[in-house]
Amino acid sequence: MADQPFLRCEKLVKRFGPFTALGGVDLDVYSGEVHALLGDNGAGKSTLIKTLAGVHAPTEGQIYIEGAPVTFRTPRDASNAGIGTVYQDLAVNPLMSVTRNFFMGRELTNSFGVLNMKQMDEITHDEMLKIGIDISDPSQAVGTMSGGQRQTLAIARAIHFGAKVLILDEPTSALGQKQQMEVLKTMMRVRARGDIAIIFITHNEIHSKLVADRMTFLALGQVIGSGTKAELEGEDIRRLMAGGAEMADLEQELAAI
Ligand SMILES: Nc1ncnc2c1ncn2[C@@H]1O[C@H](COP(=O)(O)OP(=O)(O)O)[C@@H](O)[C@H]1O
Ligand SMILES: [Mg+2]
Repeated sequence: MADQPFLRCEKLVKRFGPFTALGGVDLDVYSGEVHALLGDNGAGKSTLIKTLAGVHAPTEGQIYIEGAPVTFRTPRDASNAGIGTVYQDLAVNPLMSVTRNFFMGRELTNSFGVLNMKQMDEITHDEMLKIGIDISDPSQAVGTMSGGQRQTLAIARAIHFGAKVLILDEPTSALGQKQQMEVLKTMMRVRARGDIAIIFITHNEIHSKLVADRMTFLALGQVIGSGTKAELEGEDIRRLMAGGAEMADLEQELAAI
């Protein structure tokens, strides 16, 4: 693992009018690690990654890349700085080919402006293969791919276009169990490259334990726990997941019924 985090957030605050969605969040993510970001609905996970991805400007606080302060005015700024985000809804067009989805908006053309389909097909095939999916015909429609393969497509695309931090928003939540395992394998193959930091947003404590080097728990816009698996040993992860004390209260209430 690198000695300095690739990405660092310091005391990030995001307010929407009077509402504080992030109340001073610190987060370090190193190249070659999977950092799971956990927390209940409304904890602030999406707000945090949208701030990292240049969708929201932070109200206060600072983002650093390789130690240097950065300001993102647009998602394009964040993408140019190496932050690649795969959102839950994926933004793939099922009617278009795997290749066209891979290059969407960044197509390769020859000097006459004609799409260079052969070259794009080859790149798509090779990039998918690198992270474990051998798509025999990338000119087939994305609609023929499984949900896990679609996630892999979005991940391969982000990496090909320069992501050094890969932010995955609930990549396993809409999938069946077999597909979920495929996505976890893809994540581990990306991790094995050693040069990419992965932020893995999930509700699933088991998935997080399977692949994450470190975990950060958010509740109501605050970090309520963070550390490596070893550091979190003995912590009640299920309680952290549920946002702290609420879970213990609920257990008591349920027992009393
Ligand atoms: N654009 C927005 N305007 C106002 N409130 C928002 C906005 N986006 C998120 N919130 C609020 O911020 C809190 C955190 O939301 P979010 O980051 O989506 O949580 P999570 O992804 O962990 O479920 C929620 O209470 C949500 O209603
Ligand atoms: Mg969310």
